[in-house]
Amino acid sequence: MSRVAYVNGQYVPHNRATVHVEDRGFQFADGVYEVWSVFDGRMADFDGHMTRLHRSLSELRIDIPMSRESLTQVLKETIRRNRVRNGIVYLQVTRGTARRDHPFPPEGTPPSVVVTSKSINPMKSDATAANGVAVVTTPDIRWGRCDIKTVGLLANVLAKQHARDRGAYECWMVDDMGLVTEGSSTNAWIIDEHGKLRTRDTQANILKGCTRTTLLDILKEEGIELEERGFTVEEAQRAKEAFFTAAGAFVMPAVSIDGVKIGNGKPGPVATRLRELYIERGTRDAV
Ligand code: PDD
Repeated sequence: MSRVAYVNGQYVPHNRATVHVEDRGFQFADGVYEVWSVFDGRMADFDGHMTRLHRSLSELRIDIPMSRESLTQVLKETIRRNRVRNGIVYLQVTRGTARRDHPFPPEGTPPSVVVTSKSINPMKSDATAANGVAVVTTPDIRWGRCDIKTVGLLANVLAKQHARDRGAYECWMVDDMGLVTEGSSTNAWIIDEHGKLRTRDTQANILKGCTRTTLLDILKEEGIELEERGFTVEEAQRAKEAFFTAAGAFVMPAVSIDGVKIGNGKPGPVATRLRELYIERGTRDAV
């Protein structure tokens, strides 16, 4: 089946889906993005991602490209045209195309909008989660506004490749205080040696994950206490469980960190349960 992308008002074959060479996303990483999980053809955590998109655009003073309703329609249509039942839908908005110059382009330059969608085999993802994955760590070398979901992901790309080069799945980044900030494309969590569930607070220079936010609701309902407090790599290595969250990954158990086994080296019961609850909730509330 051939894939289709939405590019600036048109649905085009994926292999001919292009933006201009002077698109500011291409030249300056001057743009933002969102990724929704798709459950059974519908988007999970819909409002959370949409609200964060608008916040990212506003923080960077990029014009809102179209109404929320129209954008929703484009996202749904892209999922439909690609016949995605389970997978993700990706949206990118940049400051548009203009002659290369650092300051913002002339007022009225339309933002560029790109949407793609791809299938992810849920059985494969579940099998990965059933085994758990390896995590490695690296210094966090990113800029000071990681709360904005920009396409400026070079440090994240290098971190993820750092993991791949070591046969690991994800890389957790570590700040100057020795505390884990987040994963290269995920939020990081542990159940520490005292049994306390912990994840970094969003005052730190991290992305406020939508999966994280939904999990916070689930934790409240389940009566599971959470401490939003950073942890060191050593604390994570001594933890009973470790896992990370993101659209597409949901809740993914980590079974080693920098080669040190976590717990008994198998996905822990809490991470496993939270994954089930998250998928249940995501499927129930998807739009
Ligand atoms: N990444 N932290 C970072 C740095 C991320 O890039 C992401 C998401 C998250 C988790 O956010 P959410 O739960 O809203 O997906 C945390 C997406 C999936 C990506 O870059 O593909």
